Amino acid sequence: MGTSIYDIEHKRSLNEPEAFWKEQAEKLNWFKSPTKILTETGEHTYRWFEDGVMNTSFMALDYHLINGRGDQLALVYDSPVTGVKQKYTYRQLHKKVAKFAGALKDLGIEKGDTVVIYMPMIPETAIAMLACARLGAIHSVVFGGFAPHELAIRIDDAEPKAIITASCGIEITRVIPYLEMVEQAISESSHKPQHTVVFERPQHKVESLSTNQYDFTTLLEKSEPVDPVPLKSNDPLYILYTSGTTGKPKGIIRDNGGHAVALRFSMENVYGAKPGDVYWAASDVGWVVGHSYIIYAPLIHGCTTVLFEGKPIKTPDAGVFWRIIEEYKVNTLFTAPTAFRAILKEDYEAELLKKYDTSSLRALFLAGERCDSATYHWAHNTLNVPVIDHWWQTETGWPIVANPIGIESFDPKPGSATKPVPGYDVQILNHAGESVPASEEGFITVKLPLPPGCLQGIWKNEARFQAGYLQQFPGYYASGDGGLIDKDGYVFVMGRVDDIINVAGHRLSTGEMEEVVSSHAFVVESAVIGVFDQLKGESPLGIVVLKEELEDTTQVEAELIQMVRDQIGAVASFKKVVVVKRLPKTRSGKVLRKTMKHIINGDDFQMPSTIDDPRILDEIRETFEEKLLVKEG
Ligand code: COA
Ligand code: AMP
Repeated sequence: MGTSIYDIEHKRSLNEPEAFWKEQAEKLNWFKSPTKILTETGEHTYRWFEDGVMNTSFMALDYHLINGRGDQLALVYDSPVTGVKQKYTYRQLHKKVAKFAGALKDLGIEKGDTVVIYMPMIPETAIAMLACARLGAIHSVVFGGFAPHELAIRIDDAEPKAIITASCGIEITRVIPYLEMVEQAISESSHKPQHTVVFERPQHKVESLSTNQYDFTTLLEKSEPVDPVPLKSNDPLYILYTSGTTGKPKGIIRDNGGHAVALRFSMENVYGAKPGDVYWAASDVGWVVGHSYIIYAPLIHGCTTVLFEGKPIKTPDAGVFWRIIEEYKVNTLFTAPTAFRAILKEDYEAELLKKYDTSSLRALFLAGERCDSATYHWAHNTLNVPVIDHWWQTETGWPIVANPIGIESFDPKPGSATKPVPGYDVQILNHAGESVPASEEGFITVKLPLPPGCLQGIWKNEARFQAGYLQQFPGYYASGDGGLIDKDGYVFVMGRVDDIINVAGHRLSTGEMEEVVSSHAFVVESAVIGVFDQLKGESPLGIVVLKEELEDTTQVEAELIQMVRDQIGAVASFKKVVVVKRLPKTRSGKVLRKTMKHIINGDDFQMPSTIDDPRILDEIRETFEEKLLVKEG
């Protein structure tokens, strides 16, 4: 059997990383091209393109004007929840970004300052992000589904000079008052940002602006455009908070240069996208998918990106994805499997698809959670295009494992995200840090150095970065996922090995929910676990022991649900609580969360040998059955 192009590329990326990534870096327009490609900066820490000078906003906008792409569409905005559609050419988007950067500069924002962005899926969010990038200000976008308390935690950690928000977000028909939530967060946080900039939307007027509050549109109109500030490749572009195993989220730091190089590489080689293509990531800018594949990658690569403010169903129906594909001639669609589960549940026969011409679509990419085979097959049979499951994380910012159709297409194996992307040396290790044989499950790790674009660290917390990712297996990045590589080199990601769950493709910490639940005056102890959910893949379930036995636990349950909603946010989807008499534990007192999860999901499992009192499991099972929580066969 001959060696495949993929094998050659992948091997070369690992054996000659500097030559490989230098070539990739040369495909972008730097102010000063890097000569130092890879530098070891400490024990197991590395930096890419150290002496390169560039600006991400320049690469995403100005460069295309110089290159004759000014009149091509850069961004189309489609908002079924407001009925608004807007189109921006590269020239128009560039003008807005340069002017809004001028507005931020007038507010005193400069290179190295941090700016929190708490906004819905509107073009102004993209403008705000790119304007920060233009100045070298580090943005930190917070997903709108998080409650003010969560926003306050991020404000205290990122210490922003300014917050940019909108008067509201819209969830199907519900108006979410973003500005009020920002105000509440600022009143709760210790750090007080100097300025708040608000984009007023007609669905929720701003009554009056207080001192330190500015109207987005007025600022933008009256400001002078500014040029992109030359930045070092390693200057941070953004901080993005993601769930860890404790209550405190981790601020993942992304650089400018490595990020741009990696994203461009991925557009060509993983997604098989060409400049001029229409690329649609149906996600949210609050998540890493939104950062990488709604904003930065498509623009850096000269594509048209689609910014969709809606849901796969109910806005207005399960045909909206097909309408968008037809209307903007989308070539690549990227979303989470849960979006397709929502569509197939509403329209299994795909009747609505018959109304639209989706022939422009070349491939569907799925990520964010494990793709179940029913969804995979439905999507494939319905759309009749390659369906590509690929695996990545907020930490990496771009795919680790994929079917790299821009290099070579492999026959898919459902349940596998296919092969390690060039740059990633994926290895499966056991507890002792030894490689395991093919097809044996273990910890999924990546041998260091990670390729360009991956996290530089955790904001203001080097110790957590080291402890969370680098110390478990010295010389390797511990991904937090478990899985295997089969004899053909296909990687199967089986799920998290920690307390993180994926709910509708949203990454959440059960530990954080437990902290909230345990703070209720009636709760003695609790466990929150992710259980099977037909639509969302997983959903959290709170299992609590109360201080005293109550005949009716409905009120406490409702209070716990409300507490999580108020403190973490609606996105937690924390809707089920069950009261039990005792929690099953090991003899050393560790709660057996996995065992409870197996009982509820109806999985076969072995009684843990370390269990303290096996009789508790029968008790728990009875309670779960009584509450109809156990999944049938
Ligand atoms: N601002 C405010 N609230 C938000 C929000 C936002 N940006 N995003 C979600 N929420 C709210 C929702 O309204 C919902 O509130 P509810 O409990 O009062 O109904 C709650 O947070 C949970 O949201 P979600 O888990 O998204 O559930 P949903 O029922 O609203 O929608 C899907 C389910 C499957 C349709 C939706 O999750 C989806 O389209 N997911 C796929 C795409 C995706 O975004 N993937 C993420 C990363 S790729
Ligand atoms: P996030 O950081 O929000 O992108 O979530 C990353 C996590 O989502 C990973 O660590 C995985 O647990 C999960 N995940 C993402 N993509 C996949 C995939 N294709 N298959 C299985 N799990 C995935």
